[in-house]
Amino acid sequence: MGKIKRIGVLTSGGDAPGMNAAIRAVVRAAIFNGCEAYGIYDGYQGLIEGEIKRLRSHDVSNIIQRGGTILKSARSVEFRTPEGRTKAACVLADYQIDALVVIGGDGSFTGAKCLVQEHDIPIVGIPGTIDNDLYGTDSTIGYDTAVNTAIEAVDKIKDTASAHNRLFFVEVMGRDAGFIALRTAIATGAEAVLVPEVETDLTDLYHFIEKDYNPKNSSGIVIVAEGDKSGGAYSIAEKVAQKHPDYDIRVSVLGHMQRGGSPSQFDRVLASQLGVAAVDALMDDQKSIMLGIMNKEIVHVPFNKTIKHTKNLNPELLSLVRILSV
Ligand code: F6P
Repeated sequence: MGKIKRIGVLTSGGDAPGMNAAIRAVVRAAIFNGCEAYGIYDGYQGLIEGEIKRLRSHDVSNIIQRGGTILKSARSVEFRTPEGRTKAACVLADYQIDALVVIGGDGSFTGAKCLVQEHDIPIVGIPGTIDNDLYGTDSTIGYDTAVNTAIEAVDKIKDTASAHNRLFFVEVMGRDAGFIALRTAIATGAEAVLVPEVETDLTDLYHFIEKDYNPKNSSGIVIVAEGDKSGGAYSIAEKVAQKHPDYDIRVSVLGHMQRGGSPSQFDRVLASQLGVAAVDALMDDQKSIMLGIMNKEIVHVPFNKTIKHTKNLNPELLSLVRILSV
């Protein structure tokens, strides 16, 4: 048995469906490896404030299918300071917690990296964000479910759009990344997609809309990522309405419904795999790494690397939207 006896787990940043499945996996894998598991509530802020409870196997029963996170989540300003992190390290020492599993995104791992560096606490990260914007993993926990939710919503919007010959601009989440938007656009057969990674070419957009949409006898869907540089769905819809006053335009912002709901089988299985792998990595004396999945294999990615690099959208998928809306 290694020197790690107590493992803490927390969720941080925006919640994502599948986080509960990951918590369950971490707790049970810790117990399986002869360790005690501790749930830290309210993310890093809860860590600073000592909101910690021992979790036994039955405490994580019946949560694999639930969205949200039983540990709650928060964004902590205090943890961004060295003083805040020192408080967190003292709390961990008080509870004799030797290692941490952090389930979250980019910002969560930046904080984790600092805690490892400053206080030598082994930390392993599990990518949990619907945005899928983490370098070093093909998929983050919650992304698949969020895309499925967006697709289901857009399919319904398409019914009413078609009944009224309307052009819809549907805004999906993605403050800095267009992964949800791109996949949703392909899967719903959208006319166009606008993402933060690509500057919106209005002439191009008008061309695609004019080609496909006729207010007298057809409908159309444009998927807009919330972080699109042209200002989001309302702003772009207004521009199109100015150019084409005859168009029957509506906007629908899907919002936080994309963050909730029961996780898909993909997210449940991914979360279970990464949770077990996170504990294995700690047992193996790893620290300051994120676990990811690349080509169906579990991979170890240094925090440094995932924080520093940006995951790019697949250009082939981007061109698919154009080709298929010919
Ligand atoms: O979880 C990431 C994300 O969904 C972004 O796409 C979105 O901009 C943000 O969270 C919203 O965060 P909040 O819940 O704090 O408004």
